[in-house]
Amino acid sequence: QESPRIYTKEEVSSHTSPETGIWVTLGYEVFDVTEFVGLHPGGPSKLMLAAGGPLEPFWALYAVHNQSHVRELLAQYKIGELNPEDKVPSTLETSDPYADDPIRHPALKVNSQRPFNAEPPPELLTENYITPNPIFFTRNHLPVPNLDPDTYRLHVVGNPGSKSLSLSLDDLYKFPKHEITVTLQCAGNRRSEMTQVKEVKGLEWRTGAISTARWAGARLCDVLAQAGHKLCETEAHVCFEGLDSDPTGTTYGASIPLARAMDPEAEVLLAYEMNGQPLPRDHGFPVRVVVPGVVGARNVKWLGRVSVEPEESYSHWQRRDYKGFSPSVDWDTVDFDSAPSIQELPVQSAITEPQDGETVQSGEVTIKGYAWSGGGRAVIRVDVSLDGGLTWQAAELDGEEQRPRKAWAWRLWQLQAVVPAGQKELNIVCKAVDDSYNVQPDTVAPIWNLRGVLSNAWHRVHVHVAS
Ligand code: HEM
Ligand code: MTE
Repeated sequence: QESPRIYTKEEVSSHTSPETGIWVTLGYEVFDVTEFVGLHPGGPSKLMLAAGGPLEPFWALYAVHNQSHVRELLAQYKIGELNPEDKVPSTLETSDPYADDPIRHPALKVNSQRPFNAEPPPELLTENYITPNPIFFTRNHLPVPNLDPDTYRLHVVGNPGSKSLSLSLDDLYKFPKHEITVTLQCAGNRRSEMTQVKEVKGLEWRTGAISTARWAGARLCDVLAQAGHKLCETEAHVCFEGLDSDPTGTTYGASIPLARAMDPEAEVLLAYEMNGQPLPRDHGFPVRVVVPGVVGARNVKWLGRVSVEPEESYSHWQRRDYKGFSPSVDWDTVDFDSAPSIQELPVQSAITEPQDGETVQSGEVTIKGYAWSGGGRAVIRVDVSLDGGLTWQAAELDGEEQRPRKAWAWRLWQLQAVVPAGQKELNIVCKAVDDSYNVQPDTVAPIWNLRGVLSNAWHRVHVHVAS
């Protein structure tokens, strides 16, 4: 066998562009991945962060790479080995950026451990109108920062016509405390049903990427007013930056239109309490944004910086993710700039009981679930069918009565239905209607999109009837 070519760390680090070739290392092995960059499922720009150096610190962040098929793929690009003295120190290989993440509740169904993404199981999700903090769904893109409440400062960046503020937690407590019940839903909720139509890129959320809490904090409009911001005629956006970051210092970010931020009726919060407790670390301790009626992605956690800008946030998650496309758009043709960022979400509902594949008793069956719509639109009705959508009955709506145009929280619903005699199986379906009479589409295929977002077709559960 031929001995491998040996390279120095310096040689590897000079290969960071298509012209020179793009090289990376893993352990002592050297790879030329120039041809792979454009094919990377996580996007070329992410891969390029590791160009000319070791993959370990980046792969430690995205455990998706700890799979044999990823290692096999990389092996095809091997060109040699590192000088033994240049091998990456093992501390870097083993240092785990997630080592400091909080302990989580064992009931959560984990979709990804690093970063941590998990949902409550359906049988717990609708047990309580207010989701208990330990089982509230968690959607993290990065390690959870460990922030000291005593030294924490929220930076509100000034511009001509406004001043900068640096607010401690005590400063935030001095603003009038505002408390509201708000449901958060991830754009990827129910993505697993889209995957059944055709593969999509993203975490396999089932019906649980949604939860409800009582949030308390200062209203964003009060804080912006103190900094001297006013509504302006020209388009403007409030950009938020989280204090969670990757090894290159890239932080999570997102934005909402200034008009929503400045509208007292929109009730956008800089929240420091969740269900009467300080925010748990996973949910943004010590301060997060809560934007009622708007997709989870804009509800920035571990908030460090707020600024008013003429353009939307330049964050990857504002511009290159969380957008919807036609089913015909694929990763070769997608033009992220052509679609608006998701803000208000469409009407949604799902069945949490019984679950798909379960056996129910003959006689009577209890069907339970949740329904919610974005933009403060109230759910006015949930229709349930036992026969795949041929006939319908209206479910009983439980939970807080919602205020007109400020229906920020879900309704739980249930239906006690007679199981028709002799029936061996049931195709249970639910669909909600909001107060704009928006309805859910009946099937997934026509709303399928490459990122698997906005999955809100009728929810269907197939069960057997005990004989
Ligand atoms: C996903 C390979 C470098 C971030 C993936 C997947 C493969 C892959 C095969 C899909 C895995 C699956 O879904 O089963 C590689 C190779 C790399 C590389 C061969 C180096 C040559 C990087 C770097 C980063 C990164 C440096 C981050 C800085 C990601 C992310 C995803 C991903 C975030 C998940 C995408 C999603 O599902 O949204 N990578 N990767 N990758 N990669 Fe990489
Ligand atoms: N904020 C920061 N700083 N970092 C993040 O990864 N994830 C966003 C949003 N805010 C995220 C963030 C997404 S996509 C969602 S759906 C919600 O947080 C989830 O909030 P939760 O984890 O409290 O349920």
